[in-house]
Parts: sequence; C-alpha cells; structure tokens
Amino acid sequence: MTTNASPAELPSPVAALFPDARETLRVEDWLTRELMAATERAARGPVMPTLEPALLQRELAAFDFETPRALEPLLAWTLAQLEHGVVHLNNPRYFGLFNPAPNFPAQCADRIAGAFNPQLASSGSSPAPVAIEAHVIGAIAQRAGLPNGAGGHFTTSGSEANCTALICALTRADPRFGTHGVRAFSGPVAFYSSRECQPAWFKIAHQCGVGRTALRLIDVDAHGRMDADALAEALTRDRREGVVPVLISATAGTTGAGMIDPLQRCAAIAREHGVWYHVDAAWGGAALCSQRLRGLLAGIELADSITIDAHKWFATTMGCGMFITPHRTVLSEAFRVSADFMPSTLASVDPYLNSVQWSRRFMGLRLFLSLAAAGWDGYGAHVERALAVIERVRERLTALGWSVVNDSQLAVLCVLPPPGFPPLREIVRRLLAGARAWAAVTTFTGREVIRICVTHGQSAREDVEALVEGLNAAGGTS
Ligand SMILES: Cc1ncc(COP(=O)(O)O)c(C=O)c1O
Repeated sequence: MTTNASPAELPSPVAALFPDARETLRVEDWLTRELMAATERAARGPVMPTLEPALLQRELAAFDFETPRALEPLLAWTLAQLEHGVVHLNNPRYFGLFNPAPNFPAQCADRIAGAFNPQLASSGSSPAPVAIEAHVIGAIAQRAGLPNGAGGHFTTSGSEANCTALICALTRADPRFGTHGVRAFSGPVAFYSSRECQPAWFKIAHQCGVGRTALRLIDVDAHGRMDADALAEALTRDRREGVVPVLISATAGTTGAGMIDPLQRCAAIAREHGVWYHVDAAWGGAALCSQRLRGLLAGIELADSITIDAHKWFATTMGCGMFITPHRTVLSEAFRVSADFMPSTLASVDPYLNSVQWSRRFMGLRLFLSLAAAGWDGYGAHVERALAVIERVRERLTALGWSVVNDSQLAVLCVLPPPGFPPLREIVRRLLAGARAWAAVTTFTGREVIRICVTHGQSAREDVEALVEGLNAAGGTS
C-alpha cells in the first residue's frame, strides 16, 4: 500500500476505517433510518428467512477483499442479508426459543459501547463501566434475596455463567483443583441436574475436564420438575461408590417447558451433601421483577450461584448473561492470575480476575439502561404481559380441541393437536413454510410436543390469531 508521507510526516489515517466526523454523522443518520425501515418491514413480513442461499454464496464469493468498496452500499447489502437471511426475533409472531425482540435501551447501549469500546477487563482501564456493571449485578442479587455483599459479573451467555458455576464448585470442593485439576479428587467427579436441563451442560462438563459422563441426569416428576427424592438417592449412591459429587443445578424455567425445579428441596439436599447449589434461571429469572410472580422462585435465595440471562426475558440484545454468587472469594480463587501489564489488580473488583473472559465488552450497560428506564415495575409488567399473551394462546388453542401438556406458570406452552392432525413436525413444517408465525417442536417428559413461548414484548391479539390459525390449519389435511 502506498502512502503520501514525506519523511517529516506520518502517513494519513486510513479513511475507509476512520472517516472524518462529517462523513461519520452522515452515514450514521442514513443507517439509523435504513435500520428502522428494515426492522419495521421485518416485523410485518415473513418470520422465516427468504434469502436464496446460492445467491448469497455467489455474492460472498465476490468479496475477495482485494478491491475496497464504498461503505454505504456495503451497509445496504448487509442490511438486506439481515432482513432476508434470519428468523426475525423482531417479528411479534415469533413464538420462539428464548430469544427476544431486543428492547430499545439495550440497543442504545450497544451503540454507546461500540463508540467508546471500553475494555471491561479491568477497573483501571474502565472505572465507570466496571462500577455500573457491579451495581446492576448487586441489584439483581438483592432482588433474588442473596446475602448482602453478593456479586458476580456479566457473561457472554448463560452457558458461560453455568460453566463458571461448575468451575467454582470444583474449586471449592478441593482447593487443589486449581493446581492439579480433577486429579485432586479421590474419585470421579459428578454433578447433577434434571433430564430437562439445558444440554449445554454436557459441553460444560467436557470443557471443565470432568467428562460428559460426570453429568447425572435426574428423573423428573410428571410435571417435568426434578424429582428431589431421585436426586438425593443419586448423590447417596454415588458417594457410596467413591464418586465425588460437586454441584447440583436446579433449573428455574426449563428450556422445553418453563418448569421450575423444587428449589428449596434441592437446596436442602445440596447442603446435606456439602455440594455447591446452583440455580439456572437463565430465562425464568426475569420473574423476579414481578411482585406477582417472584414467589415462584422461592428458594433461589439459598443458591451458591445463579445464572440469569438478560438476553432472554429481560429482552436485551445478545449476549448478556449474568453469574451471581455470594461466594466472591471462591470466584476470585477460581480466576486468579497475575499480569503486571494490567492497569489494576483488584481481586475483588477486576473482571479479568473473576471471570472466564479477559477482554470484555461493556455488556452490562444493556441491562443497566433497560432496568433504569423501565424500573422493576416496568419489567414486571413486561413479564406479566407475556403471561397474558400465553394465556390467550392457551384459550384459543384449547377452544379448538388442542391440549396443553405442561403446567408452567411462566410464558411457555407445550401443546398437542386433537386427533386427525398430521405428525407434529409436519404441522410445524407447514407453519414455518407459511412464514406467518414461528413455533418449535421439542421433547417434554419423553414425548414430542409443540412448544410456544412468548418472546416479543409487543405480540398482540392478531399475532396470536396468526399463530393459532397457522397451527390449526394443518388439521384435517393429513
Ligand atoms: C435454562 C437455560 N439455561 C441455559 C441456557 C443457555 O443460555 P445461552 O444460550 O445464553 O448460552 C438456556 C438457553 O436457552 C436455557 O434455557
């Protein structure tokens, strides 16, 4: 690359990467308008991607990165790929997995974080962001009823937060774990969750080096909640056989059916056996915001650690998980490291000394701004609204002869059609092919069901109708 620098001058900055302020503002303004128009179209249009994959591959192949391209057409091209190439969480007829339509304060947060790009590894480089994140974590810990002084950090995902829980459990179970790994233990390690737990736990077992067989899947009762008696028996049996139990993870809002494990009984079993008690409230944790619903999570205050994902029911942008624990010294022990080049070394404060990540984005700003803008009551209303929407789906489907097979008090329904319908996967295939609404097939207590979850904060009556009609249309045409 040629530069026009004379010996006394430095080369000019690369204008394509660092345009001047006027050009930046012009493109920003244009982008804001284009984005709004595209997301509005996405909210009204098909939920499913409509792009032609072969065309995308051809267009991608033309990006050889040899010839620079103008930014504005590049952005227009990118917006088109997003508009036509994703399942639209922004569409209020997406009754989907726990992925939300992102709230607006969180989108503002992303923009601010992108502009300043603070390094959240250390309080030395980002004193204000680190303090803001710690404040939000403290507020959520308090809301959950954890002891004063509980802390934690934002994570990229619920999986990272759950992984952090297992690392903490192993670290507390034997102080030699940090140095010797699982060789520190007198026998094979085991940890426990229900058959309905989120399957990333298998990957976590793999990553942590305890092996996938260390995860004991405990049977569930007829409602899909962890069977506490079976849990106690599994721990007793394992210990008798020389296995070392380290953690119980109860789920508060199972991925498939929104069920809440018996949190208090699980806590008592964990105490009795001296193992770490984790509550995976990745989605269901948002119920803490509602005065009416927070009692459903009674027992969460007994946890040694909690996972809550703001990028689920709190509807922030992704990924914005949280790991919260009263045992901050265990966290610091698990992630201690010395690095003299870092601008600060505060064991109780610095994220790089307390989390899996080193370089970190300012993720917590999303929840800080959303929570500050809506307040607990605003979030409570958001959560309760989802329940009102799911209740309407229930009423409409049951009136048409469908049955509901889960009894979640959260915003997930698992449903089955009346006799005469095609197989469930065919019903959902037709629903998605029609592209007017989105739902999924999953397995609940061993059988396939259609899973419907309210994830969009603005789903309205006509969106419920589109879903119900889309599902019911398959009837009689098998
Ligand atoms: C209960 C539960 N825990 C953990 C996770 C994993 O969260 P993430 O997708 O943020 O890694 C999920 C994802 O849906 C979940 O439902």
